[in-house]
Amino acid sequence: MIKIGIIGTGGMGKYHASILKKFQDLRIVSASDINIEILNSFKNEFGVEEIYTDYKDMLEKSDVDAIICATPTHLHYKIVKDAAKLKKHIFCEKPIAINLKQAEKMINECEKNNVIFQIGYVRRFDEEWLKFKELMEERIIGRPVIWHQIWGGYGPSAEWYYDIKKGMGPFVDGAVHSYDFGIFTFGKVKKVKSSLTKFKNFTSPDSGTAIVEFESGDMLVLCWSWGLPKNVSYQYTHQAIGPTGVLIFSGFQDEKGKYFVIKKENTEEKIGPIPLNSLGIGFEKQMEHFIDCIKNNKKPIVGGIDGYESLKVGLDVIKNWK
Ligand SMILES: NC(=O)c1ccc[n+]([C@@H]2O[C@H](COP(=O)([O-])OP(=O)(O)OC[C@H]3O[C@@H](n4cnc5c(N)ncnc54)[C@H](O)[C@@H]3O)[C@@H](O)[C@H]2O)c1
Repeated sequence: MIKIGIIGTGGMGKYHASILKKFQDLRIVSASDINIEILNSFKNEFGVEEIYTDYKDMLEKSDVDAIICATPTHLHYKIVKDAAKLKKHIFCEKPIAINLKQAEKMINECEKNNVIFQIGYVRRFDEEWLKFKELMEERIIGRPVIWHQIWGGYGPSAEWYYDIKKGMGPFVDGAVHSYDFGIFTFGKVKKVKSSLTKFKNFTSPDSGTAIVEFESGDMLVLCWSWGLPKNVSYQYTHQAIGPTGVLIFSGFQDEKGKYFVIKKENTEEKIGPIPLNSLGIGFEKQMEHFIDCIKNNKKPIVGGIDGYESLKVGLDVIKNWK
């Protein structure tokens, strides 16, 4: 029986718990949050035996094998270090930390204590994004490509997400998924450019454009905003353009699922179906992987180094932001 403790029982803490509660041979034994109302509601929903308002008490007193760290990002560093010292395996949400020094120390502490350290890069488990990687490797639209995502919305409601010292805004918090997947697919980053602004009155940029150039010549272009008013609808554009055509994410959908649409000079091809809920399934696979690593003493397919490399890109993107 694997015993788990959840630190941070807000949005992601609850979401991960709702997945873990379906697993056999596993029990969520304890939970910690500084907000007692949120913590009590978590206790009622998931029936955990022990709750703690101080995560250090939980780490010291609760007999858990592993923790899920789902607090605001600026707290990951201390929690991961403290948990590793007590030999707890760790699943830590992304971004790994708020600076590279912290990330490095977290990686070292986990290695020193021989504990599993997985970072929450769920796209590594999402069938749609994995298929994209495969298609890129097959050069379905030639190479290099420009992979672009144009997206706008209200963004998360918690204010810490927009604080430059806590969540660092969408070009670190949300975009690290894409930076990580870009590195996974295209390899090393050559350089980063950005032009950022803000619509909301917080300390981090919430809108703008980031361009990541890879040594392979491929590029990732993000045109993003978390600055729209609530309930304003947006059009999500997610495509890749290459020398021989264009690849459109979810370019077609039917009752079986979603499809990539590949348009070339005289042809149009659909590739799929991929389950509509590939991201939700990815979240489940991500947790299955973490538990499998614990049970079988395996190294996670996505760990601290990946967290470090993608955070580095995010910090470069916001580097010139004042
Ligand atoms: N993988 C993904 O797709 C994904 C999606 C959303 C968020 N995230 C990441 O997950 C993390 C959490 O995000 P969220 O949306 O769940 O945030 P949230 O604000 O909903 O929840 C965070 C919780 O942590 C609690 N907390 C604050 N300080 C604490 C402390 N010292 N000890 C214990 N608990 C504490 C808060 O009270 C809150 O309940 C962030 O790093 C975020 O970037 C990942």
